[in-house]
Amino acid sequence: MCGIVGYIGKRDVQPILLSGLSKLEYRGYDSAGIAVLEQDQVKISKAEGRLANLSVQLDKQPLKGSMGIGHTRWATHGRPSNVNSHPHTDMSGKFTVVHNGIVENYMELKIELEQKGVTFASETDTEVIAHLLAEHYEGDLFTAMLAVIQRLQGSYSLGVMTEYEPDKLVAVRQSSPLVIGAGQGEYFMASDISALIEHTREVYILEDGDLAILTQEGVSITKVETGEPAACKLMHIDWSADQVEKGPFEHFMLKEIHEQPLTLRNTMLGRINDQNEVIFPELAHAAGAFQHVDKIFIVACGTAFHAGLVGSTVLEKLTRIPVQCDIASEFRYRDPIITERTLVIVVSQSGETADTLAAMQESRRQGAKVLAITNVPTSSVARDADYVIATKAGPEIAVASTKAYTAQLLAFYLFSIYLAQERQTLSTELHTKLVQGLKALPVQVEKVLENANDVKLYAESIKDADSLFFIGRGLDYAVALEGSLKLKEISYIHSEAYAAGELKHGTLALIEKDTPVIALATHMDLYEKTVSNIKEVKARGAHVMGITVEGNVGLLNSVDEICFIPPSHHLLAPILAVVPLQLISYYASLALENDIDKPRNLAKSVTVE
Ligand code: F6R
Repeated sequence: MCGIVGYIGKRDVQPILLSGLSKLEYRGYDSAGIAVLEQDQVKISKAEGRLANLSVQLDKQPLKGSMGIGHTRWATHGRPSNVNSHPHTDMSGKFTVVHNGIVENYMELKIELEQKGVTFASETDTEVIAHLLAEHYEGDLFTAMLAVIQRLQGSYSLGVMTEYEPDKLVAVRQSSPLVIGAGQGEYFMASDISALIEHTREVYILEDGDLAILTQEGVSITKVETGEPAACKLMHIDWSADQVEKGPFEHFMLKEIHEQPLTLRNTMLGRINDQNEVIFPELAHAAGAFQHVDKIFIVACGTAFHAGLVGSTVLEKLTRIPVQCDIASEFRYRDPIITERTLVIVVSQSGETADTLAAMQESRRQGAKVLAITNVPTSSVARDADYVIATKAGPEIAVASTKAYTAQLLAFYLFSIYLAQERQTLSTELHTKLVQGLKALPVQVEKVLENANDVKLYAESIKDADSLFFIGRGLDYAVALEGSLKLKEISYIHSEAYAAGELKHGTLALIEKDTPVIALATHMDLYEKTVSNIKEVKARGAHVMGITVEGNVGLLNSVDEICFIPPSHHLLAPILAVVPLQLISYYASLALENDIDKPRNLAKSVTVE
C-alpha cells in the first residue's frame, strides 16, 4: 500500500519519478506527489486522485532538478486529500519524507511534538517523521535518521531528503518493501522492482532494519540496530521492461488473463522430468523434511486464499495428510495447534502481505516449517520462509489477480504430486493421469481464451444486475468463491458464492425472477447433484449460466446459457473453469466503464494488517 520512488543522478528527475510512480500506482491511487531539489530548495507538487492529475499539474508547472522523491498513496491515516498527500515536510520545509506503511505510535509522538510547539499540517502519521528529523538534526542526516528510527514503531519504508545535504537521499526499510537500483552515476529507490526496471536491472533488496544512503557515486547500506554495514548484495533481475507494459491490450487485467497459457508453461518448466516425476530443484535442501509432517495449514488472503482452498483439497486427497486452509488475518488469533511436525504453506503473489507475513512468523516461532508459494522470489515472504516455490507468472500489475491465481493452483498441483511421490500415496494410474492433465493445461486454457467472445455477451447482460450468485460443489465451490470475488472487486456488482447444496438452507430466499446465477458443474461425480440445485434456482425464476465440461450438452436442458471448458481430470478443472469467470468479470466491468486495473478502494499489495 502506497508506493515510493526516489532518484539521485544527473538526469532530469521529474519524468523519472512520474514514470516510476506510474508503475507503482497499483499500490494506491488516492493521491500522488513529488519533491524535487531545485537548485538549493526542495519544491513539492502534489495532487489528490490519480497520478494523471499530478502529471497535468506538473505539465503546467514543472519541477527541475536531478534529485527527488515521489509517492502514490493508499490512504490509511487521514482521508485522501491534497494536504494529506505525500511528500510531507517539517515546519521549516527543510526535511522532506515519503512513507509507505504505518507509524503505530504516531499519536503519542504527535502529542509530544505539539507540546513542544510543533504545528501539524496534515492528519497523517507520516508527518511526525519530518518533525522528528528537524528536532534531531545536528548537521548529519545519517545520525539524525538513526535517532528518529529509534522513536518509530510499526512498519515503514521511507524516502528522505534535506536541503542541508543536497548530495544524498536516504532510504529506510522496516517491514515494508524497498529496493535500490544501481545505475551509472545514478541511483534509484522504489517500493518494487517494476518501477526501476526501465533504468537498471541491478538492484539491492533492502532487509528490515536497513538504512541506505544514496549519492551519485554509490550506495552504502547500514544495519540500524548495530550500525554495521549490511550484508546486502547486488542482484541481477531478469524481468524485462515490456513485462510491465500493456502491449496491445486495453487493460493489464486482460493482458494477464491472456498470458495464462505462458505463465502456466513457465511455472511447469523444469518441474516434470522425463519419467513424468514432479521435481523441485529448489527444494533439494528439504530432502526428507516433509516425511514427518502430520498436519498442513495453508494460510493466505483473498485470491491467494481461494487458491489455497483448492490446494487443501488436492493436497489432502493425494497425500492423505490432514490439510486446513485459513485466512491469514484470522489464523494467528484462533490459537491453532502448531507443532514441529506441522507444515505451514503460505501463498502470496506479492510476498509482502502483512497478515500473511505475520502468520508465517508466528508459525515459525511455534516450531513449524514454512513453505512459501510466491510470485516474487525476492519478497519478504520468500526470504522468511524455510522453503520457497516460485510461481512464474511474471509481474502482475492489475489489482485483480488472475495469472497469479492459476499459477498458484499449478504450484499446488505440482507440490501435491511431489509430496505424494515422496510418501508413496499416489497410484501409478492417477499419477499418470494428473501429469498428463497438467501438461495439457496451457493448450486447453488457450482454447478457452479463443472462445472469450462467448462469455462477453453474457457479461454485458449482467452489468445492471443488483446481485448475482455463484454456485458449485467441491472444487467448483472454491472456484465460485474466486469468481465472485473477481466480479465484486472490479465491477462493484454484489455477488455471493455458495456451495450449491447449501442454498436451500437460507439463501434460496433471495432468488427471484431473473436473478443471475452462475453454476459450475465440472465434476462428474457431483454433476447430478449440482443439476438438482440448478433446477431449484431455475424453479424460482433464476437466469442460469452453466459452466461445464465439453460433452455435457444435457446441461442445456437445465440452464439458460452455457460455457464449455475442455475435459480434464476433475481435480485440475479449476484452472480451466476460472478463466471464463475472469473474463465475465472483465467484460462486465468494461461495459460499466469502470477503472478495471485500479478498482476503487483497493491496492495491489496490502502491507497493513
Ligand atoms: C484479488 C486480489 C487480492 C490478493 C490478496 C493477497 O484479486 O488480488 O485478494 O489475492 O490481497 O495478496 P498476495 O497474494 O499478494 O498476498
